Amino acid sequence: MKTLVAVLGLSLFYLCMAEVQQPDQDSKTPVTASLCTCACDTTDTQFNLQLFLALRKMEIRLEKTEKQLEDMKKEVQGQRVAFGASLGSLGGTTGPFNTDITLTYKNVYANTGAYNPATGIFTAPVKGVYYFSFSGHNFSSKPMGLRLMKNAVQMVTVYNHPAGNRHETATNGMTLQLEVGDQVCMWLRAGTWIVDNDNNHSTFIGYLLFPL
Ligand SMILES: *[C@@H]1O[C@H](CO)[C@@H](O)[C@H](O)[C@H]1NC(C)=O
Ligand SMILES: *[C@@H]1O[C@H](CO)[C@@H](O)[C@H](O)[C@H]1NC(C)=O
Repeated sequence: MKTLVAVLGLSLFYLCMAEVQQPDQDSKTPVTASLCTCACDTTDTQFNLQLFLALRKMEIRLEKTEKQLEDMKKEVQGQRVAFGASLGSLGGTTGPFNTDITLTYKNVYANTGAYNPATGIFTAPVKGVYYFSFSGHNFSSKPMGLRLMKNAVQMVTVYNHPAGNRHETATNGMTLQLEVGDQVCMWLRAGTWIVDNDNNHSTFIGYLLFPL
């Protein structure tokens, strides 16, 4: 009889170990040790076994939680996307040119890295809904045309018609849904110009509203 109990106890122990060592993928189903708990009586060995299993279960849950927390941290960090830049005094007067050109806003105020000030191109690091806005300034003896481009397709625009000799500012913006790798930038329309100076009139900003 004693031998039978010992053999049964040992096999239950291995069964339980097998179960606790293979935590299920679905966190909604808790690691089960029901086979063990129902078979327990008050002997010390079985009590210790129960305690061991309870601790092991907790350990597995803790490991899972730590992993989830780590993943969430990474996710949140990847979702911090923003930049703001102006042409600034580095910009001076740009244009007019025969063709559209990409404006490079080199005076960077903030940038999590998705905006490249050397090329003027913003590349979406995560799929999501983003907001972009821009403003442009110039003397109205010549027109100014700005185009917010997504993958070389115009999304929105502003156009200041020539209107004598006064300072003009124009601004616009749009909420855009972007896939990873989508590129957003500003084009200066052919035959128009834009200016900036230390006052930072001509700006381009963008940020992630929420990921999808
Ligand atoms: C554009 O306008 C600014 C004033 O906002 C002026 O200083 C600048 O000379 C103008 N650009 C040109 C090429 O005239
Ligand atoms: C324009 O931007 C530059 C660089 O960020 C800053 O040093 C300067 O103070 C800004 N000018 C104004 C008038 O805000």
